Amino acid sequence: MKALVLSGGTGSRLRPLTYTSAKQLIPVANKPILFYGLEAIRDAGITEVGIIVGDTRREVMEAVGDGTAFGLRVTYIPQDAPRGLAHAVLTAEEFINGEPFLMYLGDNLLRDGVAAFAQRFREDSAEALILLSRVSDPQRFGVAELEGSRVVRLVEKPREPKSDLALVGVYLFDRHIFEAARSIRPSERGELEITDAIQHLIDRGRRVESVHVNGWWKDTGKPEDVLDANRLLLEHLEPAVRGSVDPSSRLVGRVVVEEGARVVDSEVRGPSIIGAGARVENSYVGPYTAIGRNVTVRGSEVECSVVMEDSQILDLGTRITDSLIGRGVTVCRSPERPRAVRLVLGDHSWAGMP
Ligand code: DAU
Repeated sequence: MKALVLSGGTGSRLRPLTYTSAKQLIPVANKPILFYGLEAIRDAGITEVGIIVGDTRREVMEAVGDGTAFGLRVTYIPQDAPRGLAHAVLTAEEFINGEPFLMYLGDNLLRDGVAAFAQRFREDSAEALILLSRVSDPQRFGVAELEGSRVVRLVEKPREPKSDLALVGVYLFDRHIFEAARSIRPSERGELEITDAIQHLIDRGRRVESVHVNGWWKDTGKPEDVLDANRLLLEHLEPAVRGSVDPSSRLVGRVVVEEGARVVDSEVRGPSIIGAGARVENSYVGPYTAIGRNVTVRGSEVECSVVMEDSQILDLGTRITDSLIGRGVTVCRSPERPRAVRLVLGDHSWAGMP
């Protein structure tokens, strides 16, 4: 069995972060989202992986390399434009070469990985296996209607969903999906939808099985999803201090202080992680906070947030909460007068004032 990981697309709902970076490389608990998927694939016993890349290909290739670090053999498959998930499948036809495959959307996270689903598909004679999870906002997803355990209808982002069963971004297919993807037309949003291709399989009487995902699942399409995923992953943190913590500092609960990180005269409340080379000084950090590599937090309070590498939070008179802060960002106290907020924000930025 091979795997196909989708790491193209535009990430419009995560702007401005995605103007300069692939959405799949946004870190949660200080590790790119995409890496969790690659590890889950390896843990499912798959080694041959194709990664669909688009405009951000350079960055993705630099981060993942040839896959050796993950125990995988990676082939990059350029997609000319994000024309839909079924278009991505067709782009990968030569790589897949008629084998069964697991397709993994690079911005999805599953607590329990994908090994059980890959195993079931290996043992089954189904032509497709889809994963379903109950959600409170089915309009955001592909939605399945079942009769008993049989999938009868799939609709992409329905305005009036007939069920609360969302399609999780992990699918198992055999070669029949290629013919189905070739038979469909672009949707209202102009994409070749995988949902429509699977519906095509159903309409042709192919066996499409479904399985419910029990552990949590996150599609990290929006900033609040990234913060949620960060919170969920930090719950599994094993405390470790590889950097330094001075005697006047206090670590409470499960905290990781990475190599070369320094905590000085501060309190860090777990679950939280302080990245390699970061400096936390005279500050309060946590809970549920991931401080990236080489970040400085000085004279400030940060909770329930993700702060990416090389950023600085300096001498703020107010606490930062539920925030997603990109790379190389500075948030600092402005001079006393005039009493005003000073901002340099990129397009589609968002700032909440007290
Ligand atoms: O996350 C689950 C949902 O994923 C499913 O419920 C939907 O049925 C499915 O269509 C998909 O919906 P999204 O709108 O969230 O898909 P998105 O455009 O975010 O793309 C998912 C991933 O695939 C993302 O990592 C980008 C990548 N991608 C996307 C497109 C459209 C590509 O590599 N190429 C593409 O052409």
